Amino acid sequence: MNYDRLAREKADELIKRGHARILAVESSCDETAMAVVEDGRRVASNAIASQIDMHALYGGVVPEIASRMHVEALDPLLDQALKQARTTMDQIDAVAVTYGPGLVGALLTGVAWAKAFAYGRGLPLIAVNHIEGHVSANYIAHPELEPPFVCLVASGGHSHIVKVEDYGVYTIMGGTTDDAAGEAFDKVARVLDIPYPGGPLLDKLAEEGDDRAYAFPKIHTPGAYDFSFSGLKTAVINQAHHLRQAGRQINAADWAASFRRAVVDALTEKAVKACLDSGLKQLALAGGVASNRLLRREIERAGREKGLAVYMPPPILCTDNAAMIGSAGFYRLMKGELADLSLNAVPSLAGW
Ligand code: KG4
Ligand code: ZN
Repeated sequence: MNYDRLAREKADELIKRGHARILAVESSCDETAMAVVEDGRRVASNAIASQIDMHALYGGVVPEIASRMHVEALDPLLDQALKQARTTMDQIDAVAVTYGPGLVGALLTGVAWAKAFAYGRGLPLIAVNHIEGHVSANYIAHPELEPPFVCLVASGGHSHIVKVEDYGVYTIMGGTTDDAAGEAFDKVARVLDIPYPGGPLLDKLAEEGDDRAYAFPKIHTPGAYDFSFSGLKTAVINQAHHLRQAGRQINAADWAASFRRAVVDALTEKAVKACLDSGLKQLALAGGVASNRLLRREIERAGREKGLAVYMPPPILCTDNAAMIGSAGFYRLMKGELADLSLNAVPSLAGW
């Protein structure tokens, strides 16, 4: 029987059952990850091979190195993900893979691997948008969460405010017009000599600082639900250079705290506004920046004040992982949305 028919028959059977154990693959940037996820909500395993130490040597992700490291990591990760899940290849029902957005070479390694696995085992193949994956991490962390809700997705490459109308149905309400929030954190961290990726360490440092110590320009907010970080980022970097040229010391903790406060206030204000304006009562966080301590506290606080239920995955499910891809993949599969073997990487994938 040919692959397409085999995969479609298997998918139909899974849809009828309403259950699926999915092997998920993520390789869009600098983490190679594989997970086994059951019914979109239960994580049987979540294996991650991080490349951060390697890229830190260069101060940022080197795409060619990322691709090569993914290729080396994929096969061992399969063993790890199956072992952790105490399962075998025979018990995998379908394969989900990130096909964009991300680095083209990095994405291609995962897509090619997943296609080969799906073809070899005669399993349905599901193409997942990385950002949709980030949103779906909330389904894993909060079994009670159902759409509709508003989600602030802030990562190293993207920052969006999204209305999740239903599983797999999204309206993008707004987002950044230039740098992503994580990117701004990373670039400002660099002037404080914090190694790549600077976001998490800047966050830690900021915990000990005074967030009123430095006055930075207010974040430019072009549309009702949009933000722009590049003006603030440039001002903060320039101010650091000027102070240093004048022989003045920068208090790194205060600097980090003041910058973090500016970013978090803008993100919180817009996300809460989007949720209230939509008439929805549920607000979720997602993406690497969702592990920011101040952002988590501020969203919790705003939720209490405005009567919103707030949701956020634990930090390990905020940064890149494959469990979130398995969750998003399950809901795509249940709608019968299969990819075929012509699936390609789409580095600037937009619509989702
Ligand atoms: O979602 P993610 O793992 O990868 C992308 O899809 O981009 O996000 C990584 C980004 C990096 O820019 C990193 O510095 C930032 O998330 N990040 C943080 C924190 N943890 C990760 N930024 C601020 N505070 C954090 N605690
Ligand atoms: Zn990501």
